Amino acid sequence: MAPLRIASIPGDGIGPEVVSATIQVLQQLSKTLGTFEIDFTHVPWGTDYYKKNGRYIPDDALTTLRQFDAVLFGAVGAPDVPDHVSLWGLLLAIRGPLQLYANVRPVRTFPGTKSPLDTAKKGIDWMLVRENSEGEYSGQGGRSHVGQQWEAATEVAMFTRVGIERIIRFAFETAQSRPKKQLTVVTKSNSMRNGMVLWDEIAASVAKEFPDVTWDKMLVDAMTVRMVMKPQSLDTIVGTNLHMDILSDLAAALAGSIGIAPSSNLDPTRKNPSMFEPVHGSAFDITGKGIANPVGTFWSAAEMLSWLGEKDASNKLLVCIEEVCAAGFVTADLGGSCNTQQVVDAVCAEIQKLG
Ligand code: NAI
Ligand code: MG
Repeated sequence: MAPLRIASIPGDGIGPEVVSATIQVLQQLSKTLGTFEIDFTHVPWGTDYYKKNGRYIPDDALTTLRQFDAVLFGAVGAPDVPDHVSLWGLLLAIRGPLQLYANVRPVRTFPGTKSPLDTAKKGIDWMLVRENSEGEYSGQGGRSHVGQQWEAATEVAMFTRVGIERIIRFAFETAQSRPKKQLTVVTKSNSMRNGMVLWDEIAASVAKEFPDVTWDKMLVDAMTVRMVMKPQSLDTIVGTNLHMDILSDLAAALAGSIGIAPSSNLDPTRKNPSMFEPVHGSAFDITGKGIANPVGTFWSAAEMLSWLGEKDASNKLLVCIEEVCAAGFVTADLGGSCNTQQVVDAVCAEIQKLG
């Protein structure tokens, strides 16, 4: 049995805490189930590396990553480095060049978490799909007359037919694979009359390939209202890089906590390794205290196993996490009193019961 080869990039802040927690859990899962082997290679990129080397990743970073089946990522960002430098230096330097164009974020009410929404008593179950390679985060633009009264800056959103079409098609396929077979396409094509109109046109055209998927479109501002007021009316949701960045944080909060939210950065063509990471950032306020919620990274790792073909192991891991959360073994952000290691131990004990 060839082991799954995983590059782990713990990064900054609580990243190393939640990644090391997850490695322990995956190793236990592999040992107990015996159906897969997993091998982690530590990759030390992050702000410490940046301070020593003047850059977040080396020249041959992409070649290095291409030797692996997948990447498990923690977080990037430090209090003494501007966020745009750390984000572009590490995360965006991987997502774009590896063409991890689909950012997939399952959001559902998890046992042991409490949604702030009354209307969500029945629970939320959404699949968010974010365009992850262009749009508002293409890096197009510049600054002129720096420091002058008349200083000017542009931030140009760039949308391509190829980029839109592939993410819309991926979203329809995702919707089609879920019981509700329902997709909502989010744009802002009333006030943004070029790129967003192209999104609408392409959505209407790709929709014809998926007659069994019910779809509608929403303007992003109205979408925030619908997510809060009628959460049950949504299932799969697709939108641009910026819009879904914001809506996915809202979604995570509505489901209960950002600490449990997972995300996958996928290359659906499978030419490049995909990258899996919790939605949260480096959380300076709790770094080093050993109290970070590891569930977002556990869940991301379950998504990783599923992507790599280990669906049974993935499902079993998710069930174990849910059992542990339901039993109240949760960290302070979910109202519990466990530290990170206690959650790890509880999940490992649950996994051992499978043996
Ligand atoms: P954040 O997600 O790091 O923290 C927001 C709040 O949520 C904090 O109060 C934090 O303690 C709490 N929190 C986050 N994850 C948690 C967990 N696992 N368990 C318990 N509590 C948790 O977002 P913030 O403060 O906006 O950003 C901090 C740094 O992280 C910045 O440098 C930012 O650029 C970076 N960042 C990096 C991301 C990434 O690597 N994908 C994503 C978001 C932010
Ligand atoms: Mg975000």
